[in-house]
Amino acid sequence: MAEPVNLGGPVRPSRGTGLGASRSAIGQTLRTTQRIMKTCQIALYPGDGIGGEVLAAAVRILEHVESLSGKFHLETTMLPWGSDFYFEHGEVVPEDYLDQLRQFDAIFLGAIGDPERLPDSQTVAHLIQIRQQFNQYVCLRPVKLHPGVRSPLLNPGEIDLVVVRENSEGEYIRCGGWVKRGQPEELAVQSAIHTRSGVERILRFGFELARKRRNQLTMITKSNALVYGMVLWDDIFNEICGDYPDIDSRRQHADAAAMDFVRRPADYDVVVASNLFGDLLTDVAGVITGGLGLAASCNINPERDFPSMFEPVHGSAPDIAGKGIANPAAAILSGAMMLEWLGFDHAAELVRNGVVRALEAGETTPDLGGSLTTETMTDHILQHID
Ligand code: NAD
Ligand code: IPM
Ligand code: MN
Repeated sequence: MAEPVNLGGPVRPSRGTGLGASRSAIGQTLRTTQRIMKTCQIALYPGDGIGGEVLAAAVRILEHVESLSGKFHLETTMLPWGSDFYFEHGEVVPEDYLDQLRQFDAIFLGAIGDPERLPDSQTVAHLIQIRQQFNQYVCLRPVKLHPGVRSPLLNPGEIDLVVVRENSEGEYIRCGGWVKRGQPEELAVQSAIHTRSGVERILRFGFELARKRRNQLTMITKSNALVYGMVLWDDIFNEICGDYPDIDSRRQHADAAAMDFVRRPADYDVVVASNLFGDLLTDVAGVITGGLGLAASCNINPERDFPSMFEPVHGSAPDIAGKGIANPAAAILSGAMMLEWLGFDHAAELVRNGVVRALEAGETTPDLGGSLTTETMTDHILQHID
């Protein structure tokens, strides 16, 4: 069975239909139906490359579990943003993209980036803005080696960890600039910003998550070289450890962690890392558990003041885009995280189990050694959901 990540927290009530004021019998019936059938507004943002291919697959699965469940309805709105949109409108997203997205209960994203036609610095900047402006400060990336999936490691052991990536500040803050841009003596400054409140809240989130798992936490640092920002992380870690005496916690430098993710990944449970370290480690974590085609992710605002965003770890994969062979599992598993976040735990479990069973049966796309297409692998997963 695939484990849920335990996203936790109350679900914000979804928008009503305005029918609640009616006192008629029909109104009464509709109100009852409304209580049973919860409707959520979902922004579908396919993006570029394989983004649209894997998102379409995931939406098929979501529609399937929705009809099986009968208890919720995901009302989807397609946002045609990305590089094609740029060539038509002169921008990758409309100017009011944050205001448009704010209206939704959740955002379901495929992937962004079209590096052959547009520089990443142009196409990807707003993705980081969505995460930061919507205070999606927790990026959760579960990593599990599923039965039937071959790791490139000789003795991988039982890999089952979660990377809790700080997602709102750190190395990804847009703080810096150019001097003498384009001249021979040009220089660039890129600063990382680590705040006490930002570090403390992500660490505490990690500790709480460890309590729901195997009571172990590793904080990734690099305080031997980054002697301001990472020393702040170390200080806060040392201060709050005492609040979690039940958690076996330790610190590890990022370079050593990169090595141990390969050497003994089964030793990790919850891993808390800054924005950039979390990004790097989750690509390593992905590849040791079968590749990025399986790696799910979400960017959440735990207070639910803003919509959270669900997306695979992988990018737009230009090398396989348009071939119909992208593994849809990462997007589908990200969709399961979205269902859990919206309060539909049973549907999320059905989806995860469907993926696990397909993997066990070797029903996969070529990245995992199979010969299925995105569409036929999705067919197989669908058949395992009942
Ligand atoms: P990538 O994740 O797109 O691809 C890396 C490798 O993994 C490629 O060989 C690709 O074929 C393979 N891969 C990825 N997803 C797969 C899937 N579902 N099934 C099978 N194989 C899969 O990383 P990249 O090539 O470094 O980046 C391509 C573009 O995507 C760039 O523009 C980059 O900035 C962007 N990117 C976007 C996101 C995002 O939208 N969240 C994440 C990472 C990279
Ligand atoms: C990811 C991606 C993004 C990141 C890029 C596209 C900005 O690599 O989601 O892992 O670095 O966060
Ligand atoms: Mn990444």
